[in-house]
Order: sequence, then C-alpha cells, then structure tokens
Amino acid sequence: MVQNILKIFILILWYIVILDAGHSKNLAWNGGPLHLQCEYGTDLWMSSAYVKENVIAVKTVPYKDDIYVITPRMKPGVLATLWLIIRGKKGVELQPYPELRDHKLSDCNAIQNAVDFYLDHLGKLWVLDTGVIDTLANPRCTCPPKVVVINLLLGKLIKRIDISSLLEANSLLQNIVVEYGLGGKTFIYASDASRGAILVHEMSSGAGWSVVASGPASGLQIALVKRVAHTVLILVRLHYPGIIELDTTALRRQDSLTPLTVFGEHCKPVVLLGADGSHVYLRHIECSDVLVWNTHDAFNSSRLDNIHSAGPRMTTTAVAADPLKHELLVLDSNYQDTLQGNSPTYHKITFVSKN
Ligand SMILES: *[C@@H]1O[C@H](CO)[C@@H](O)[C@H](O)[C@H]1NC(C)=O
Repeated sequence: MVQNILKIFILILWYIVILDAGHSKNLAWNGGPLHLQCEYGTDLWMSSAYVKENVIAVKTVPYKDDIYVITPRMKPGVLATLWLIIRGKKGVELQPYPELRDHKLSDCNAIQNAVDFYLDHLGKLWVLDTGVIDTLANPRCTCPPKVVVINLLLGKLIKRIDISSLLEANSLLQNIVVEYGLGGKTFIYASDASRGAILVHEMSSGAGWSVVASGPASGLQIALVKRVAHTVLILVRLHYPGIIELDTTALRRQDSLTPLTVFGEHCKPVVLLGADGSHVYLRHIECSDVLVWNTHDAFNSSRLDNIHSAGPRMTTTAVAADPLKHELLVLDSNYQDTLQGNSPTYHKITFVSKN
C-alpha cells in the first residue's frame, strides 16, 4: 500500500518535471524590463522619461537563436520601438536594437515608431516606421515615414528608404512585406488603411506607386503567401468579413488590378496574425483561439485547425515561424486591459511545434 502511494507520488513528480521542462523555453515578462549597456549610466534607468507601463510588444520575430519584438510608441515614455530579447538570470529583459541611439526621437535617421517588420531569407529585417509617435495619447509627426533595413547578422542599420511621396496626409500605415521578384527586383509592399491601398516601392529603381485594393478601414493587414506558381498578398480589413487575395503581379504592373478573390465573405471577421510559406495564422475577432489556414485548401472558417489559445484576458497579436526549428512563436498579452489602465502589460511568448 505504502509502496503504491510512493509509486504514484514519484510518477506525479516525474510528470511535473517533464511538463515543466517542456515549457521552460516559454518567455513571460511585464511591461518593458530594460537591458542597457553600462555606457548609458544609471541616469537613463532612473529617468522619468522612461515609462515601463507604456511598453507593449505587439510583434515578434525569431532569427537564429535570437528573438526580436516591436513595441510601438502609442504613449509617451517608450525608449525604443525595436528590441532584442535578453534571457537574463532575472528573467526577460529588453535591449534596444540595434542600438539605443537608433531610436532617438526627432532624429530622422533613427526609427521613430516601428509598427511592423518583415524578416527576409537573407536575414534582413525590414522595419516600417510611420514617423508618428504617441498615437494613442497625443499623436505627433516627428519625421517623414520610412522603411529601415537592419542586417541581423551584422546587427546594423544598413538602409533608410523614404516612402513619404507615397503617402497622403491622413495615411495610416500598418503592415509591411517584401517580395524578391524574378530578375533580381525587390518590392516593398506596405498597407495604408485610411485609403485601403497597398504602397509599392521597387528597390533598384526607387520607383513607387500605390494601388487601391479595398475600401478605407481602421486597419488593413497584409501577408505574403506562396501559391504553387506565384505569390499572393492576403488582405484583411479590420472589422470587415472576408479575406481578399491579390496576385502580386497585379501590384507590380501598377496599371490595373486583376479581379480579387474573396474568401469567407459570410463568416465572422478575422484578424491576421502572421504567415509562413503557404500557411496563414489568424483568429476570429473577439475570439482567443489561434487558427491556421493551409492556403492549398479552400478557405472554410469551420475547418481551420486550432493551434493555440491565449487564455483568459489575453490576446494573441502575432505568430511567427522559426524556419530552422520547425516551430511557431506565439505572442500573447493583456494589452487591452493595460491600454486603459496603468499596469504593465503581461506578455507571453509560447513555442508551438509545427506539425
Ligand atoms: C465547411 O466545413 C463544414 C464542416 O466540415 C461543412 O459542413 C461545410 O459544408 C463547409 N463549407 C464549405 C463552403 O465548403
């Protein structure tokens, strides 16, 4: 009898150890715990200009053994808007990336407000900088909008691309993706929600134009997806049902749009969380389950696989694939609670294996 109880006890202990080991990689942190090089001294640490509560990570991307996050400047006191995650002894810390000076306010060589990024297969991180800060408190234009390219291998900012000529006064930039086309041409696509437009910028010629692809909305999300013979852009208008698919050759031709394909017109609106090859990660609005759509199959909202649930009061804001490790990083937070209040946002990155 005693032996049996002991056996069960050992078994339970074993399960706890195994389960814990399985999840020990997952990351969690509150607000914006800083990791700064000593050269900046303690002044910055103590500085009232830094408001830990206003640091809210909304996007993540893995590269090799590192993880990067974006924290848009929605309220004052956000020291940097792109960070490298440091897994220190005291837990997660955020280190301004590549350097703190690359985030200096009103320095137009620096990133003003990163709202989205796109990692290409060459290890280049393309960062969309709206140039508008404190968007939820007291919006201010500090610099023209631009795209900043960072070489992650070198840890250096290598290029700044002015995209201001493609914008209008009330433009609302949201997402960025980059396509390497045939013939060595590189195209940047950025979404402008206020016009329902996709801004296109070709790197070698420096030419740019915009293509209206939907009606205006408060948000316009885009993702690049590989079809069998070509690449398509998936578009989602915030709070509108339906997923629009657009052949990127139409964007590059700049004259006219070929008819758009629309999926799920009669389903609940969705939020795009990320894409990877032919897979699109999304959730239904006001629902915390993260779903995956294999775009090789026809879209059917009741037949999407559920890969993750954020849990009570938590919202998933991004899913990113680690191509080498066959896993997905899912970023959850309770940012909706903290946007109203003043408590630091609780963030969680969960690693989900890809089947
Ligand atoms: C979607 O899937 C459900 C459940 O499998 C099925 O009943 C329904 O007919 C499908 N809808 C379409 C449009 O294929």
